[in-house]
Amino acid sequence: MPTTALSAEQIITQTADFVRAKFLGEGSGHDWAHIRRVWLSSRALAATLPAADPLVTELAALLHDVADWKFHAGDEEAGPRAARAWLTGLQVDESVIQRVETIIREISFKGLGVPTPMSTPEGEVVQDADRLDAIGAIGVARAFAYGGHKGRPLHDPEVAPIIHDSFESYKQNTAPTVNHFYEKLLHLRERLHTPAARRIAQERHQFLETFLAQFLREWEGADLAEL
Ligand code: ADP
Ligand code: NI
Repeated sequence: MPTTALSAEQIITQTADFVRAKFLGEGSGHDWAHIRRVWLSSRALAATLPAADPLVTELAALLHDVADWKFHAGDEEAGPRAARAWLTGLQVDESVIQRVETIIREISFKGLGVPTPMSTPEGEVVQDADRLDAIGAIGVARAFAYGGHKGRPLHDPEVAPIIHDSFESYKQNTAPTVNHFYEKLLHLRERLHTPAARRIAQERHQFLETFLAQFLREWEGADLAEL
C-alpha cells in the first residue's frame, strides 16, 4: 500500500504521543513532565535562534531521554538507537534522523571536567533547555527525587564536594544529593550556549544559591542558635 509522507506537525504530534505514553508515571526525574518542559522551552529558545531547524529541535527535545544510559546499563547508544527506530517507523528523512541521533549522543552532562560541546545549533538549544530544567526550583526537586530514587542521603557534611573529571567516575558516583549541586547544578549557568537560555538561567541559578544556603543553615541548626 503506498504511504503518504507525514507533515512535520504530524511527526511531532505522533512523537509527543509516543513519548508521553512511554514516560507517564516515571518517578525518577525522567518523567513526561520533564520532557514536556524541555520540548516547550526548546521551542521557545529555537524561536530566538534563526539557525535552529524547528523539526530537528522538537524531535530531539522529545526523544532526548528516550533511553538514557543511566537506565540502560550504561549503554550510550541506547538513546540514539531508540530514536532511530521510532523515526524510521514514521518514515522521517534520513538526514533528520541523523541530526536527532547526534544531539541525543552529545547532550548528556558527563562530569564537570568533561567537555560536552554540541555540534549543531539545534543541539545547543536542546542541551540548554535540558539544563534549564536541572536548575531553579524544578531542578532542586528533580535532584532530590533522583537521590531518593537511588536511596541516597540528602546530605553528609563529611563528604567534601566531589568533582568528576572523567565520565567513568561521574557514572559511578554515589554521593549524597547535595554533592550534585557542587558537581553539576551550580556550574550549568556558565555552560549554556544561547543568550536566551543564559537570561532565563539568572533567576534559576540565584534560587539554587538561596536554597543551598538555607538548607545548610537549617542542617546545622544555625537558625535555632538565634533563639
Ligand atoms: P538531564 O535530563 O538534565 O540530562 P540527567 O539525565 O543527568 O539530566 O539527570 C536527570 C535529573 O536527575 C536532573 O535533574 C539531574 O540533575 C538529576 N541527577 C542526575 N544525577 C544526579 C545525582 N547524582 N544526584 C542528584 N540528582 C541527579
Ligand atoms: Ni533530560
